[in-house]
Amino acid sequence: MQLRDLRVVALLALLCLAVGASASESPPKRPGQAAIASPHPLATRAGMEVLQAGGNAFDAAVAVSAALAVVEPYGSGLGGGGFWLLHRAEDRYQVMVDGRETAPGAAHRDMFLDDDGQPVPDLSRNSMLAAGIPGLPAGLVHLSSQYGRLPLGSALAPAIRYAEEGFEVYPRLLMGLEFKREQMLTSPAAAEVFLPGGELPELGSVLRQPDLARTLRRIVERGVEGFYAGPVAEALVAAVQAGGGIWTLEDLAGYRIVEREPVIMRYRDARIVAASLPSSGGVVLATVLNILDGYDLSSLSAEDATHLVIEAMRRGYRDRALYLGDPDFVDVPLEKLTHPLYAAGLRAGIRLDRALPSEYLPGIGSEPEGTQTTHFSIIDADGNRVGATQTLNFWYGNGLMAAGTGVLLNNEMDDFSAKPGVPDGFQLVTAQANMIEPHKRMLSSMTPTFIESPRGVAVLGTPGGSRIISMVLLGVLARVDEGASARQMVERRRFHHQYLPDRVVYETGAFDEATAEALRARGHVLAETSRDYGNLQVVTWDHADNRVQAASDPRGDLGEATEAY
Ligand code: GLY
Repeated sequence: MQLRDLRVVALLALLCLAVGASASESPPKRPGQAAIASPHPLATRAGMEVLQAGGNAFDAAVAVSAALAVVEPYGSGLGGGGFWLLHRAEDRYQVMVDGRETAPGAAHRDMFLDDDGQPVPDLSRNSMLAAGIPGLPAGLVHLSSQYGRLPLGSALAPAIRYAEEGFEVYPRLLMGLEFKREQMLTSPAAAEVFLPGGELPELGSVLRQPDLARTLRRIVERGVEGFYAGPVAEALVAAVQAGGGIWTLEDLAGYRIVEREPVIMRYRDARIVAASLPSSGGVVLATVLNILDGYDLSSLSAEDATHLVIEAMRRGYRDRALYLGDPDFVDVPLEKLTHPLYAAGLRAGIRLDRALPSEYLPGIGSEPEGTQTTHFSIIDADGNRVGATQTLNFWYGNGLMAAGTGVLLNNEMDDFSAKPGVPDGFQLVTAQANMIEPHKRMLSSMTPTFIESPRGVAVLGTPGGSRIISMVLLGVLARVDEGASARQMVERRRFHHQYLPDRVVYETGAFDEATAEALRARGHVLAETSRDYGNLQVVTWDHADNRVQAASDPRGDLGEATEAY
């Protein structure tokens, strides 16, 4: 059977402590119900367990983040990083908690180039040099201590249980292992957990991670020091160095979470709040939506509207390539890039009858497959929200584990520009702004996002490498322009243009034949992919009926669609 045939709708939901606001209030002050959308039912259950124990959305986010690190080990983990976009209902405070990995202190600009100055992809993806200093454990501790109500131990309890007692091996986990098998066999610690006897585990067999459970317990006992100092840190550094990497104990001890202002933009009657640098997501989204705000897409034909969305994506992703990097290291012209007048200038260069070849845009002068990353969305009964995207980069990161820790290491260093203009693993090109420097954060596409409008609120995000931003964009357009429900948002067929390579990748069924023909006639190069992509997780709170809904992408292969009020 094809793996995609095994996909089941994932979603989740629930909780009902009180039936919210009275009918006379408008908009309602609180939903009175909670919803979680995550790609794995056990992760969703972890979040619900914590909400039912009196936790808020932030405690639930800690529980879901950590649970995903255990039950979706190919997508994210303690050895990786993430962004958590928060909305605190009581004072409407909004912030992005930046737990992105950093380059080690001994990292340098040319570390992934050979003697001829050419990038060596194996080094930036499959070696100990590929691993950035993890941010996810610090993110969990920060979220819990700054925003949660419950002790960290309560929020991490479900993840520890899953690691100790195990969970059933499922198709996507096996697919990733097939892909990563050879690399993982070079790491005895990783192979012991994921490739018993050197073989793939049986579908449905129980996968236990006792070392990972122990590391989680240390974090409960010691906070950040449980990971960034002491025996766990020593084991991590020893393994990285033994494998030719450059981590030091100082790198780990020096890791810091950064709180950043989200990027805020308007599109029609909606206020969009999205991840800020070092994620490129919010900035690209702002440019693209500012361009599109000058049109009335809903009044246009499908071919005109699609053409304009593609042209706007092309320009937004071009700016990503040219200007974006870690704002603590490079001056990014943020105000300009997110300003409606800048977008008006870009809009003026768009012709309705022709695609502009990307090479005609001033810039630098390349399809993503199989990024693993993961996303979940939460709203609690009080209206607190979390959208979080977290990652190890590619399947199981670099596939290497430090013995005794249960921690798989990331290969996030590949998100830096090894050489300006040379594409990374997602065929994304970046420039000087994203060159490697010690302690710098690599540019990301992870885009947790809120949509706030008179209709209510949506929290959304997805894995998908460079396509994350275009998937979130299509989600925003579906909700704001078409009034889509959470379910309709995740089901919508997708298309994507990222400036280079200069082509429109689209899922089978995204365009009817007439639209495809009209786009080709305007000069677009179309590349159909029969492989669905993404795993969008959406929760919504609609004010008219004061209901929350949650929907998981049908492209995911796990989960159950359940809602309770
Ligand atoms: N590693 C994928 C991203 O951060 O965009």
